[in-house]
Amino acid sequence: MSILITGGAGFIGVNLAKRFVTENKRVYLLDNLCRGSLKNIYRLSLQGAVEVIQVDLHNYNKSLSAISQIDRNEEITEVWHLAANSDIPAGTNDSEIDLRDTFMTTYNIIRIMRILDIKFFAFASTSAVYGDRGNESLVETLGPLLPISNYGAMKLASEAFISAAVESFLDTALIFRFPNVIGMPGTHGVIYDFIGKLKESRSYLEVLGDGTQQKSYLHVSDLIDAMLHVRDLNYSGVNVFNVGPNDEGITVKGIAEEVVRQLCPDARIVYGNGNKGWVGDVPKFRYNNDKLRATGWSPSMSSEEAVRLAVGELLRTS
Ligand SMILES: NC(=O)c1ccc[n+]([C@@H]2O[C@H](COP(=O)([O-])OP(=O)(O)OC[C@H]3O[C@@H](n4cnc5c(N)ncnc54)[C@H](O)[C@@H]3O)[C@@H](O)[C@H]2O)c1
Repeated sequence: MSILITGGAGFIGVNLAKRFVTENKRVYLLDNLCRGSLKNIYRLSLQGAVEVIQVDLHNYNKSLSAISQIDRNEEITEVWHLAANSDIPAGTNDSEIDLRDTFMTTYNIIRIMRILDIKFFAFASTSAVYGDRGNESLVETLGPLLPISNYGAMKLASEAFISAAVESFLDTALIFRFPNVIGMPGTHGVIYDFIGKLKESRSYLEVLGDGTQQKSYLHVSDLIDAMLHVRDLNYSGVNVFNVGPNDEGITVKGIAEEVVRQLCPDARIVYGNGNKGWVGDVPKFRYNNDKLRATGWSPSMSSEEAVRLAVGELLRTS
């Protein structure tokens, strides 16, 4: 029995794969390496613990052939679908990107699962499906959902397709709405960008927007704990969970100050205008975590603690 992780060479996929390996699961990682990297999985591959299959999930026939091959040898019992475009501004400039990498990858993998009779599906969704709700507390039952980025729109369309698949053939679909996830191996995101910028300029750090954007940050170790905790509850049907810290998040100003403190304490922080970093950026969101916490899970870190840890981790390895 084996587990398939799409987007498995990316930031979160690698962390999930490591955890499954410690549970002695056989893990297959599907990735087209457009953003992920073989470097991320080098150790796991050397141990023979995972197998990487380079395939573009946007290509239905090639994906069907690759996945059928695995299933013929070892029954696939779970699919964890993490492949997607993770560059929100890029998807705003070119809507094809999210259609292709965020929605069509979901559409294709679900069609393939139906053919191969694989019944368990876990999905990496996002707070971006809620759109810009200001200070409103985001509960899983909130609606109507009106995303403000193509990324959020294609994740929401994916959720809808997954829900329909549960009606027709899936036993279980777990939809996890992630906040901002941070940790190693960082491939993108605000901390990664700030460190890159500050290493170049050393004396100043330029911030997109006025720094008042305030969001929830979760360390990747807590995210994986939460997802595996929910999986072990053996739900059936479609289940949606916000996964986040138990706080109202941290501001971009707070993150910039932490990066400066750990990397170049004398650097100045130069803020831009307005409370959005880019078109499609949700300036504030506040998760309601009650549903997940009622199942007995709680994060080990606050947003601030997760940021402090992730800045240190990224600095040590970059
Ligand atoms: N990191 C976050 O803060 C965050 C927040 C919310 C949701 N998510 C979701 O979590 C998942 C993982 O994100 P991540 O941060 O690890 O990003 P990532 O970019 O590091 O990983 C995504 C992986 O998907 C692969 N991929 C993209 N298009 C593909 C395609 N057509 N075929 C095959 N592989 C493809 C990429 O090469 C990459 O390795 C994504 O679905 C993302 O939308 C992440």
